[in-house]
Amino acid sequence: MMKSGSSDVCEIILDNPPVNALGLPVRRYIIAAIEAAEADPAIRCIIIRGGGGLFTAGADIAEFRTDQMQILWLPDLVDRIEACSKPVIAAIWGNCLGGGMEMVLACHFRIADTSARFALPEVKIGILPGAGGTQRLPRLVDPAVALELMISGRTIDALRAHEIGLVDRIVDGDLVAEAFKIASADRLPPIRRTGSIPPPVNLPEAVAETRASLRKGGLSASPERIVECVAAIEADFAPGRAVEKRLFAELMDSQAARGLQHAFFGERKVARIPGIGADIRPRSIKTVGIVGGGLMGTGIAIALLNAGLDVIVVETRGDARDKARDTVGRTILRDVEKRRVSQSEADARLAALTLAPSLEALADVDLVIEAVFEDLAVKKEIFTTLDSIVRFDAILASNTSTLDLDAIAAFTSDPSRVVGLHFFSPANIMRLLEVVRGGRTAPDVLATAMVFARRIGKVGVVSGVCDGFIGNRMFEEYLRQAYFLLEEGALPQQIDQAMEAWGVAMGPLRVLDLAGQDIGWAIRKRRAVEQPDRPYSGIVDRICEMGRFGQKVGKGIYDYADGRTAVPDPEIERLFAGYSAEIGLERRSISDAEIVEHCLLALINEGARIVGEGIAYRPVDVDMIYLNGYGFARERGGPMFQADEQGLATVLEKIRILAAGRNGWAWEPAALLVEFAAQGKRLADLNI
Ligand code: 3HC
Repeated sequence: MMKSGSSDVCEIILDNPPVNALGLPVRRYIIAAIEAAEADPAIRCIIIRGGGGLFTAGADIAEFRTDQMQILWLPDLVDRIEACSKPVIAAIWGNCLGGGMEMVLACHFRIADTSARFALPEVKIGILPGAGGTQRLPRLVDPAVALELMISGRTIDALRAHEIGLVDRIVDGDLVAEAFKIASADRLPPIRRTGSIPPPVNLPEAVAETRASLRKGGLSASPERIVECVAAIEADFAPGRAVEKRLFAELMDSQAARGLQHAFFGERKVARIPGIGADIRPRSIKTVGIVGGGLMGTGIAIALLNAGLDVIVVETRGDARDKARDTVGRTILRDVEKRRVSQSEADARLAALTLAPSLEALADVDLVIEAVFEDLAVKKEIFTTLDSIVRFDAILASNTSTLDLDAIAAFTSDPSRVVGLHFFSPANIMRLLEVVRGGRTAPDVLATAMVFARRIGKVGVVSGVCDGFIGNRMFEEYLRQAYFLLEEGALPQQIDQAMEAWGVAMGPLRVLDLAGQDIGWAIRKRRAVEQPDRPYSGIVDRICEMGRFGQKVGKGIYDYADGRTAVPDPEIERLFAGYSAEIGLERRSISDAEIVEHCLLALINEGARIVGEGIAYRPVDVDMIYLNGYGFARERGGPMFQADEQGLATVLEKIRILAAGRNGWAWEPAALLVEFAAQGKRLADLNI
């Protein structure tokens, strides 16, 4: 839509809710408007602005790698704006991101109100500012500042944008009126083309310094490629622009870009629950009760207080109550010291916390989260009592990670109001919240849990009820393979380093040491009774028998002489060699690639089983659990994404080879993989 606010001004309004993404129809509209305005002798000046309170979130990410993207290519449109023979004014409010900011760079004059926020976040989705951004921003602002903005992808506000020279004028009032005033003045802003500004003299120095500071060995090449583009800036715009075009295309095709973009859309997709539409109204949550003031309870309390909720923590023991208050207070104070929050905000958060000795204090809360000890008898007592205390419309949640949620719900008179909220430790830091849907959980309770997850800054993902839910159930198979690799000849540090180099934040054996070897041992003992036909290697049990329960006691699979650093221990290597000999295995040399393959295939196979059973709604739900709760690198997209990247036929073939080998019983292929591979489908076809 082209509007002429006054007869000699052409106003171009980006109007493509919800974020005015620059998809093909929008690009067509802009180019048509620019060309018409240029051809119309009555028009003296052009204003570009966004509708709906924001400029634009940039290129339409859903168009990436489609033919659509190539039609009326965004960088060409941006060049066309810059080449316009009449002054083009950008009037910016709200978000001005990515390709949108690049468009603004090509305009001849830029004004913004104080709501404007600017970023080139392309690095976060594995690409680079490919609409001339790498060439124009370092010409317009200090190149070191430009590089930092592009490599971090961080957002700056209007005042900072003005300070660095990105914005020409800040408007403290009506942005559109001011834009029209400028566009209708006798003296129009001069046509200054950013692409024609000579390269700044300090450009080589900024490039060299940035290059030296880059972290080596990242999974995404975006930061290095951004530096290459900036290094290619010449007096003439064209050569640098050609480098940008080539490197943009290269990155767009990379696995890291596909993985990061899968994560971008995935985190939004998991919030949508099949079968729960807009007609289901979530309940309002303002005050939350937490039962249990231990490590988990206090972590949850901090997360909720930080989100502005009122919190009542019930802890029966006086000393534990004092400790809980102290832990919450210290954590919030640390945020003040780190300048993440102001003192007054911290005071408000602490004032919203109440500690109480008994469940009676929860009579009027909207939601209760039980975070006590994993013992069904204890939970029974708590849920039966809560059932008679809380309001009839309050939601009852359990943080259980191992118990049957339906059994817990059955302790109440109304199981429809019971849901699982499985936080990950430390609960104030980890982004994942597994929302467990019980057999009788009401749709509005589930919807409320998902809104609540977002409200407290978490990625909520729904899981059905099964042992370990989605994340831990898969992790168990992953660990099972890691143990087998240990007994066959791999050393712990090799397994951990191979997985970390591939793309997990912490290798599986270090995770065990951190979580406590005694916890893993207890689970293995339970499994030996429940699933005698699915035996674990006994190799790690030997460590537990020695009392080496991990980091908390200074020794586990590794040695922690300083209490923190995992140091390989020759005693453990001897122990493992002895174990292999004892079970008649000749230790062999195992490559990093084999380690990664075993561990990843275990996750893929169990993940596919979980999707096939309907425990996860879609493969993407499994992926978002692994990215947000298990340290899986975003660039890797998640186990289900990895299966599609390899191709399901290839995955299946590899699993079948393993199924024919030692411990082949652990490799029965998931029915979903077999079915989809036969039909030539991808798991992503299920990501509805
Ligand atoms: N393209 C396509 N869809 C987008 C989009 C984009 N650039 N940005 C957001 N959306 C979609 C989301 O997927 C979501 O869709 P849904 O409702 O169907 O799930 C909807 O818009 C609303 O988004 P959010 O839920 O994220 O809304 P918020 O208000 O929380 O956040 C935002 C808004 C800050 C704009 C956030 O969406 C965001 O950061 N978007 C991505 C910005 C970005 O990366 N831009 C660069 C694009 S790459 C580029 O421009 C290339 C160029 O250099 C050539």
